[in-house]
Amino acid sequence: MIDKISTLGGYIHEYQKSVTKPEEFWSRIAESFFWKKKWDKILDWNFSEPKINWFTNGKMNITENIFERHLFIRGNQPAIIWEPNEPNDENRVLTYNELFTEVKKFSNVLLQHGIKKGDRIAFYMPMIPELAIAMLACARIGAIHSIVFAGFSANSLADRIIDAEAKMVITSDGGYRGSKIIPIKEIVDEAVSTCPTVEKVIVVQRTNSEIAFDDKIDLWWHECMAGAEEYHEAETMDAEDTLFILYTSGSTDKPKGIVHTCGGYMVYTAYTFKNVFQYSDGDIYFCSADIGWITGHSYIVYGPLLNGATTMMFEGIPTYPDAGRYWDIVSKYNVSQFYTAPTAIRSLMSKGQEYVENKDLSSLKVLGTVGEPINEEAWHWYHDHIGKNRCPIVDTWWQTETGGIAISPIAGIIPTKPSFATLPLPGIQPIIVDAEGKELSEKSVEGNLCIKYPWPGMLRTIWGDHERFKKTYFSTYENLYFTGDGVKRDEDGYYRILGRVDDVINVSGHRMGTAEVENAINEHPLVNESAVVGFPHDIKGQGIYAFVVCGELSTGGVEGIKTSIQKGVTKIIGPIAKPDRIQLVRSLPKTRSGKIMRRILRKIAEGDYSNFGDISTLLDTSVVDEIIKGALENV
Ligand code: WT7
Repeated sequence: MIDKISTLGGYIHEYQKSVTKPEEFWSRIAESFFWKKKWDKILDWNFSEPKINWFTNGKMNITENIFERHLFIRGNQPAIIWEPNEPNDENRVLTYNELFTEVKKFSNVLLQHGIKKGDRIAFYMPMIPELAIAMLACARIGAIHSIVFAGFSANSLADRIIDAEAKMVITSDGGYRGSKIIPIKEIVDEAVSTCPTVEKVIVVQRTNSEIAFDDKIDLWWHECMAGAEEYHEAETMDAEDTLFILYTSGSTDKPKGIVHTCGGYMVYTAYTFKNVFQYSDGDIYFCSADIGWITGHSYIVYGPLLNGATTMMFEGIPTYPDAGRYWDIVSKYNVSQFYTAPTAIRSLMSKGQEYVENKDLSSLKVLGTVGEPINEEAWHWYHDHIGKNRCPIVDTWWQTETGGIAISPIAGIIPTKPSFATLPLPGIQPIIVDAEGKELSEKSVEGNLCIKYPWPGMLRTIWGDHERFKKTYFSTYENLYFTGDGVKRDEDGYYRILGRVDDVINVSGHRMGTAEVENAINEHPLVNESAVVGFPHDIKGQGIYAFVVCGELSTGGVEGIKTSIQKGVTKIIGPIAKPDRIQLVRSLPKTRSGKIMRRILRKIAEGDYSNFGDISTLLDTSVVDEIIKGALENV
């Protein structure tokens, strides 16, 4: 079992050890896991190739560390508590024994259908237990899961299936989200029709919706499982074998497949889960994320289960049947740790006190946030009204790429400050640099956030494109991992994350690449070009503002074209990429060399019509005045 840091002095001691003797530090933590064969070398790395290998030649399987390692003491303890969309429907509780049986059975199903170690399987699933069962079965046989959030469009799903050359898709007939039924299978059918690598689609029955069912590729989950063998030995994995791919947006090009590996990811998610949330036996832990994002991978499934914890899985949405749903769940199950996104907090805060007032939240011990900067007002509301001034808030900074939490308070141990992620976790060596990459070593300083030393949970490459991996993360500054975030450090050495400094927008805690949204807008037949920037949004943190140049207006006029652009983006990427504001402009502010000056557009989108800085390189400055005029009319 991993030891928990339990005092501030303990944290400082651990942190210093992790910096001065990182290999010794991580090997001691890794020792608490079950290895079929121990590693030869703890760390082998350079950030120039880049090469990052942890626990070289160590052999293991992450699911043996979840199940076999815990079974004798935790067999009858709940592993997953699943709360359905409808509060009055029956929930499902899977003990470690039960979950293990399901995982072994589904492992055999996968093998039966020709899935081998190293094959990729795409997922497009609602939040139901079968999602966790199937992902763990992949891990058990060594297949690589690529989970696609079921809010993405068929087109986005197809892109991801094609990039990973997935052989199989796991999905459901439909999904419940509040009062809506999502036609999950229909979206998969549309995607799969353009994906020649997909041989089989396994369909879980959830909504009993009428669906198209092609006997040549479609299989029912329950039929496959009915005859499945219950015995299965975990595949032997190398510590550096790929565990999963998860796609995330960047500032350029298509989303990239972030690759995480078995050994390092296991050690890192388990260690950070236990420490940040101070999980103790008997606690009920609830993370409200979707498993389609990294938060769900690391802190609904792997981190908690590796610690033998009881983790909640919630199918629905925070506002159904009303804005008190999370708090009902907390009191129904006596949740001890609750982890959510600032956007959810702001949205629930705006619905009013009445949804919180009479709820019994006395079981809560720790609150967490993730995904975007939390503003002070939301922090205080969360602290006062949910935590009743007794629960520490862990504002956890990390990324899909970091695999697990990197900068964060350790609950109840590191004193918090509203909107600060506070201090690095053991093993994380942040460094702040200026635009040229020079270290800003003063204590109180603002700049770009990099990390100078590897940690076990970090990404190893971008699927199929190591060059892009190098270019994206290790080329901006030599020998440093560049996070893409701006950061401020205060006189106490506390870190406050300021948000992205690249062309990535953070909408409700989800990353959207501006280039991706622009490409989708430009698909519209009447659009010549576009530029997309973020703007401050009360609930979402950032909204999407699109400046669009059209050749002509069709019937339906300005409003008609805006609506059809929004529809187009929703179809191409998904509803999360839909621009909140669209402004039609005659042209975009470009330099003489043809580069769009986004800085100006960002200011205008923020409602700041001055302070543009130097605009002497602009080809035509009258464009700016025109856009401002249009923006004022657009508000
Ligand atoms: C980006 C990563 C990590 C899981 C969810 C998002 C922003 C993340 C915080 C925080 C301020 C944060 C950063 C980061 N971010 N956590 N606590 N405070 N900003 O994962 O989609 O990979 O996005 O989210 O900008 O780079 P992701």
